[in-house]
Amino acid sequence: MYQSSSQRIVVMTGATSGFGAHTVKHIAAQPDTMVLVGARGSGRSSPSGVQILPLDLASLTSVREFAETVIRKIGDAQIDILILNAGIHGSEADQRSADGYGLTFAVNHLAHYLLARLLLPYIADQGRLVITSSNMHNPPLKRIAPRKLDLQEWAYPTKDGSGTGIRSYTASKLCNLMTAISLSRLEDVRVRRLSIVAFNPGLTGGSSGRDASPLQHALVALMMRTIFPLIGLFRPEFVMNSPEHSGKMLADVALGSIAPPRDKIYVSLVKGKPTFPDPSELARSRFDQERLWRESAAMVGLTEDI
Ligand SMILES: NC(=O)c1ccc[n+]([C@@H]2O[C@H](COP(=O)([O-])OP(=O)(O)OC[C@H]3O[C@@H](n4cnc5c(N)ncnc54)[C@H](OP(=O)(O)O)[C@@H]3O)[C@@H](O)[C@H]2O)c1
Repeated sequence: MYQSSSQRIVVMTGATSGFGAHTVKHIAAQPDTMVLVGARGSGRSSPSGVQILPLDLASLTSVREFAETVIRKIGDAQIDILILNAGIHGSEADQRSADGYGLTFAVNHLAHYLLARLLLPYIADQGRLVITSSNMHNPPLKRIAPRKLDLQEWAYPTKDGSGTGIRSYTASKLCNLMTAISLSRLEDVRVRRLSIVAFNPGLTGGSSGRDASPLQHALVALMMRTIFPLIGLFRPEFVMNSPEHSGKMLADVALGSIAPPRDKIYVSLVKGKPTFPDPSELARSRFDQERLWRESAAMVGLTEDI
């Protein structure tokens, strides 16, 4: 067991690159804080004091092993903050997880859904769970965002279907947001006064993760320097944030210094500032939330209710 009685325990995914690498620096710099990061072993460095534990979100077996390792490491202590931030930026029909699901749906949604459910009982009363979503889940902001829950296609993508390319990404970010809403409704979460927050970092010029091809890297970099600054003149939600700034804001959300008002769970950075908009109409549909929850449980092999 690692924890002293006053030590804060933080568990995070997506801390090895992008704005998450800045988030983890801020959190690890807090006094009496132990940070456990799940990562694939990319060889990227992490701040001192942060412990890296093996986690490949493209494998449900690896997610279960990571959860077991975390539970074993914390012993009798509890997790104060769980940050589910890792993500890939889209995949093609033939890119599948170890379990045979569409890669983006599996990594961004199914793995985090399972991790949230496995670790939820180990989150301390009044603890916090933050899931990184995106404004791209919302059709008025992103035309290709999902208008219906196309789970079959997202889980088993076919060529040029809604489970491929950028649409696989927008779908997975919708699932992250809906999962956050469903978690916030659980009786255990309400009784133990856990805070569930979905976070949109705004555009930061990501895709620096190792899954992106050199062409994707170049395209993103070019768009960030040319198209997005222009679009940002008319559409504030497309104004770029620096990874440093979005990372600091995610740390503030995780540490509770930025919190959505009562009855809201979505913190969205617009021009670098936190706003608290309603999620998309589809994300707010209770019927679809319940369907996503149920079908995701079956896909990850959870049958029991929590
Ligand atoms: N950047 C943006 O403009 C933007 C906008 C809205 C939302 N978001 C969301 O913000 C989050 C972070 O985005 P980013 O752009 O900062 O990302 P990024 O630079 O591409 O980094 C992605 C992170 O996810 C990890 N990851 C990817 N696949 C994994 C796997 N199979 N197992 C374990 N870890 C894995 C990567 O680890 P490795 O070190 O192993 O590669 C890395 O730490 C994502 O959820 C993304 O959807 C980003």
